[in-house]
Amino acid sequence: MAHTQNLSNLIANWNGQLMPLTEVKVSVLDRGFLFGDAVYEVIRLYGGKLFRVEDHLSRLSDSLNSIDIKGVDSGKIRSMLKATIRESGLDDALVYLQITRGEAPRTHHYPDSYMPNILMYASPFNNPYAKEHETGVSAVTHPDIRWGRNDIKATSLLANCMAADYAKRHGAMEVVFIDADGIMTEGSHTSLFGILNNKLVVSPSSSKVLPGITKRQVLELAKETNVELDERRLKENEIYELDEFFLAGTPEELISITKVNDKQIGDGKPGPMVKKLHQSFRDSVSKHLTSL
Ligand SMILES: Cc1ncc(COP(=O)(O)O)c(C=O)c1O
Repeated sequence: MAHTQNLSNLIANWNGQLMPLTEVKVSVLDRGFLFGDAVYEVIRLYGGKLFRVEDHLSRLSDSLNSIDIKGVDSGKIRSMLKATIRESGLDDALVYLQITRGEAPRTHHYPDSYMPNILMYASPFNNPYAKEHETGVSAVTHPDIRWGRNDIKATSLLANCMAADYAKRHGAMEVVFIDADGIMTEGSHTSLFGILNNKLVVSPSSSKVLPGITKRQVLELAKETNVELDERRLKENEIYELDEFFLAGTPEELISITKVNDKQIGDGKPGPMVKKLHQSFRDSVSKHLTSL
């Protein structure tokens, strides 16, 4: 995937102030910097409009509530998003949005008073996964070494970074996280789905599995197109028996996984169900777009 970015061209919205991204300065006492005490969202902009923005904002609100960050006004978030998109001048982009608890003397417990810091920026995104959509990708299994609250979209992603780097070093695009019970959870930054006997197999969202927005869309599409859903915990050895396997995420949409740990899945090519679901996904995007 060609993923080069000229950061110096990007405009940040820092607490409502628009400025070059590379010029935003933050205190070393910001709890996002010290503890990863922060949550985030990545929202796709298609043709200048936001995809499933209400779902992203609702998940953001769940994440904020889970870690008790108070004082973030949803009206402010919306007006900041609007200004960020307008100022970027972009049509096809990824909008990154992060909220930290803000600056406070360093204590583990939450400070009594704080002012959250809000950062947003849009970066150009013009389907860098065209090749992967065509050919499929490989994945490698990795122990799920993350914490026990993966439903919170927190910026403290060291375990995910370690796993993603392991995948890269092994020539794979993603990891398949396997928990201590030998069950597949998700990828380091994507949701995972299998196709077995024409059924869509997916891990239920839980404290171990993020409720992905792309996942939600795939589940809705499966229902609309009468694909039977088998929401269950898939054992590691069952992965190799799948007819098809795919990952799903905001930047990736749906990408077929054709190999896991060098073992071929199905016939080793993107299968008909993944292709069909991805096409339905693309056809349905326009129904979920909002301009703020
Ligand atoms: C762990 C994890 N699972 C799944 C996803 C996919 O979520 P979404 O479809 O909302 O992009 C992400 C996205 O960052 C993620 O980090």
